[in-house]
Amino acid sequence: MSMPITNPLRIGLRQERVIPPQCLVIFGASGDLTQRKLVPALFELFNQRRLPSEFALLGCARRPWTDKEFRARMKAALGPIADKDPIAFDQFIQSIFYEPVDLQKPETIEKLKIRLDEIDRIRATHGNRTYYLSVSPNFYGSGCRALSAAGLLNDPKRSRIVIEKPFGRDYSSAQSLNRLVQNCAQESQVFRIDHYLGKETVQNILVMRFANTIFEPIWNRNYISSIQITAAETVGVEDRAGYYETSGALRDMVQNHLTQMLAITAMEPPGHFDPEAIRNEKSKVLQAAQLANEYEPWKCCIRGQYGPGGNQKHPLTGYREESGVDPNSTTETYVAMKLFINNWRWQGVPFYIRTGKRLAKRLSEIVLTFRDAPVHLFDSAGGSPTSNQLILRIQPNEGAEFHFEVKSPGSGMRSRPVEMEFSYEDSFGEPSDEGYVRLLADAMLGDPTLFTRSDEVEAAWRLYTPILQLIENSPWQLPIHRYESRTWGPTAADDLLAKDELLWRRP
Ligand code: BG6
Repeated sequence: MSMPITNPLRIGLRQERVIPPQCLVIFGASGDLTQRKLVPALFELFNQRRLPSEFALLGCARRPWTDKEFRARMKAALGPIADKDPIAFDQFIQSIFYEPVDLQKPETIEKLKIRLDEIDRIRATHGNRTYYLSVSPNFYGSGCRALSAAGLLNDPKRSRIVIEKPFGRDYSSAQSLNRLVQNCAQESQVFRIDHYLGKETVQNILVMRFANTIFEPIWNRNYISSIQITAAETVGVEDRAGYYETSGALRDMVQNHLTQMLAITAMEPPGHFDPEAIRNEKSKVLQAAQLANEYEPWKCCIRGQYGPGGNQKHPLTGYREESGVDPNSTTETYVAMKLFINNWRWQGVPFYIRTGKRLAKRLSEIVLTFRDAPVHLFDSAGGSPTSNQLILRIQPNEGAEFHFEVKSPGSGMRSRPVEMEFSYEDSFGEPSDEGYVRLLADAMLGDPTLFTRSDEVEAAWRLYTPILQLIENSPWQLPIHRYESRTWGPTAADDLLAKDELLWRRP
């Protein structure tokens, strides 16, 4: 007898595309990303039965490890997840191999080729390969060149390359890197990863907008008065000071994750759901985006850096006191900015974006605030009626909420705001997959829809060029505002909105 389905929303869940036979080669396999994200994501795909039996993971890095050592490390990285289902894990671990490779040394790449052929034989992976560059960004260009010189990217149907962020440091370095990569592989082989695009709720923006008729007619300057995009973190720089000191929040979060959320929120509907159609629209909207004040960027951009905070029991160190950080560092851990999109749909609607480390709450969301009713007929319980808001909650508590006014019970005619809510977990009964699960699967399937195309990356860097140039040439014009750890960032960011008589949302 079959089990009754208690939640009709679960019907059809997990009917996923099966990944074709292949070998996933991770360069930089000794690094943090492989252990924290990639291998757990692969194990999840394995548990969802989406990895074919003809699958292999080949970890590559400079360390002279053996398969056995690498497998032991990956087991340790998975920790309790591996222990939960030892039989599944034992099966999964059989597909993992290791080869010492230095992308700068052609002789090690020759050995890699031999190893790949051997894996093809023992795991029946048919010469299909996905190369994942999880190495320092300085090696993206030379890594592609080395793979291409060894002939490993020759077959566009059977080889592809995944490149982690940051893709370039600014507009011109992103252009050069694009040129270099495109000399080594066709654009269709290149998968520039942005893990925010792997988040269920970021993809849901497309579905909310384009699968419903109620939103699209009001998704424009006639009905929306402003949009806020936030990615707030409670963590500090942790053990990544080396990288973060050269990056800062603008390069680490804004140019990629926040800009992708902006593009998906603001893009025009594509003609059909096809990777190129979607990426064309994202690219177009990014080309229309502009800082609110390109010539005086200090008027529309605030940079901040966390200072100490917490309490006596749990004191928190300031950024400059973190290990590996220059005590006089001017790296920003917070950015707030005002932008416009100069097109028919969005002309005049401010987009406010902000991100920061050590903020009061972990929260990523998009808030669309609608124009007020032209006449206020009713008194409001809260003084004046609140504007309608649609909030797309990216994380945590993935879902959406709508804020609107209703009649306050009683004999009068007063209004008060209420909320209507949709939660992924409550409705579908399970938390969403990590972004890397979706993106690794898509890369191995050869589906580029959720990866950024060369023109998108360049448009995103171009957008922030005036700020990057100012930081480079006259940093005093964009001073770093210190903020206490576990607060909502510098007060200067509040002033940015106060000038427009607005407030940041602080749920
Ligand atoms: C990464 C950044 O890309 O995104 C990190 O390098 C940041 O600094 C992380 O912490 C945030 O991702 P998420 O998925 O936790 O919001």
